Amino acid sequence: ASGSEPYDAVIIGGGPGGYVAAIKAAQLGLRTACIEKRGSLGGTCLNVGCIPSKSLLNNSHLFHQAQHDFAKRGIEVSDVKINLDQLMKAKEQSVTGLTKGIEILFKQNKVDYIKGKASFVSPTRIAVELLEGGSTEVEAKNVVIATGSEVAPFPGGAIQIDEEQIVSSTGAIALNKVPEKMVVIGGGVIGLELGSVWSRLGAEVTVVEFLGGIGGAGIDEEIAKQFQRILSKQGIKFLLNTKVLGADKQDGKVYVKTEAAKGGKENTLEADVVLVSVGRRPVTEGLNLENVGVEVDSKGRIVIDDQFNTTVQGIKCIGDVTFGPMLAHKAEEEGIAAAEYLKIGHGHVNYNAIPSVVYTHPEVAWVGKTEQELKAAGVQYKIGKFPFAANSRAKTNLDTEGQVKFITEKETDRILGVHIIGPNAGEMIGEAVLAIEYGASSEDIARTSHAHPTLSEAFKEAAMSAYEKPIHF
Ligand code: FAD
Ligand code: NAI
Repeated sequence: ASGSEPYDAVIIGGGPGGYVAAIKAAQLGLRTACIEKRGSLGGTCLNVGCIPSKSLLNNSHLFHQAQHDFAKRGIEVSDVKINLDQLMKAKEQSVTGLTKGIEILFKQNKVDYIKGKASFVSPTRIAVELLEGGSTEVEAKNVVIATGSEVAPFPGGAIQIDEEQIVSSTGAIALNKVPEKMVVIGGGVIGLELGSVWSRLGAEVTVVEFLGGIGGAGIDEEIAKQFQRILSKQGIKFLLNTKVLGADKQDGKVYVKTEAAKGGKENTLEADVVLVSVGRRPVTEGLNLENVGVEVDSKGRIVIDDQFNTTVQGIKCIGDVTFGPMLAHKAEEEGIAAAEYLKIGHGHVNYNAIPSVVYTHPEVAWVGKTEQELKAAGVQYKIGKFPFAANSRAKTNLDTEGQVKFITEKETDRILGVHIIGPNAGEMIGEAVLAIEYGASSEDIARTSHAHPTLSEAFKEAAMSAYEKPIHF
């Protein structure tokens, strides 16, 4: 990058929000740079989040199947063992393949990749502490902040993460031994995904959750209950309505203190490894936001308007560091829209059509409104359900747990929400997202041919059930 001529767009952060914004901006003809301090592109998602966790989820599922599920299918294997080193190598291979891939995309699209830590000198001037040593400054007509999020520490400092015995998700995707006993603090998405991984590999996993249900924000209550039943059958233990107060290390073990959420009964749980998964917080440290006047709210999120503008002209913000669900695909949508605002003055993200997926087995996926949200808003709705136990493909695959649940507006039949628990729910939810995006009714889906025999017929039949009646149930 030539230091003197200003960039049209400088993106701070190379995660799913930032790298996508950078590529889109460059594709639209803007002279673009992306500053990333990690030494690798792809942010939380590719380096320590979505990708490594999905590698472990997929491979631990195969291991678990080989141990517990193959025999009934007529596949006899003996002496199935886990090679944790190789499992981790496979994970690393997926990560590096993808992070290096973004570097290639940057080159192809002529995005300048600046490796270092950015901070604002002025709204248009950014200083970078370079990873290779020394520093530089770049001038920018527009800046997009996409600095993402990090593990939220346990409130009040009552638990110190050491990433070996007391781990965040980052330590939990890199354990060098399968723990005998693992306590997971927080039954949200990270707790359930990584709890599943270690449970399948042989750990005795107990999830402690403050609320009365698992699955984190936005999950439909009925689905959450079914989800908990299924995970319990797999061997994960749950302590709901239970608050963790603190954890102490002693003689190679960790002792986790809990009490009933409403106060009272205290208890201590012994663990070899404790996973702290009580949420994530935005990263703005070192950006020097105060000096340029970019406002953050009480939760540390950068405040933006509906066109991604911060309180300072010329500085936009997207992804985990601002409002909305902390999801990679949400950050990516915002990255594209923000780049479009920069070049052509308009862009669009439909926040009502952002799917959520929990990559356990079975998977849980949803989009749109839950029953409890609609009840609270006083909306009249209809429900259509179809169980995978009545779907021919699920039966053929001996994988029948779960259901598809449609929620439609009573008066118009418009689809308001779709909630799936079942095999491949994460792929299937795409159809529901599209339906909501296009304002489809359950009749639209019910009258659309779905290939036989596929799991997606359960999706069609749930729509039929919301509209009139399903055939196979
Ligand atoms: P990030 O990915 O956090 O990227 C921000 C980048 O900015 C970082 O690389 C950081 O180093 C860099 N940065 C910060 N400050 C500076 C600075 N001053 N100068 C230069 N660079 C800076 N989401 C999903 O949708 N699906 C999943 O399956 C999923 N699984 C997850 C599993 C785990 C274990 C975790 C922790 C998260 C998961 N997420 C998942 C969430 C997902 O990772 C985030 O929503 C996503 O990464 C957000 O993208 P982002 O670009 O906003 O921020
Ligand atoms: P989360 O917000 O999903 O869940 C945290 C849970 O911890 C909540 O249910 C909360 O009630 C509970 N909790 C908080 N304090 C507690 C205490 N003291 N004792 C007991 N329970 C307590 O946060 P999580 O799981 O850390 O994930 C962070 C974010 O990362 C998610 O919200 C999601 O946006 C993203 N993510 C997405 C994934 C996906 O899309 N598949 C996978 C992993 C993470």
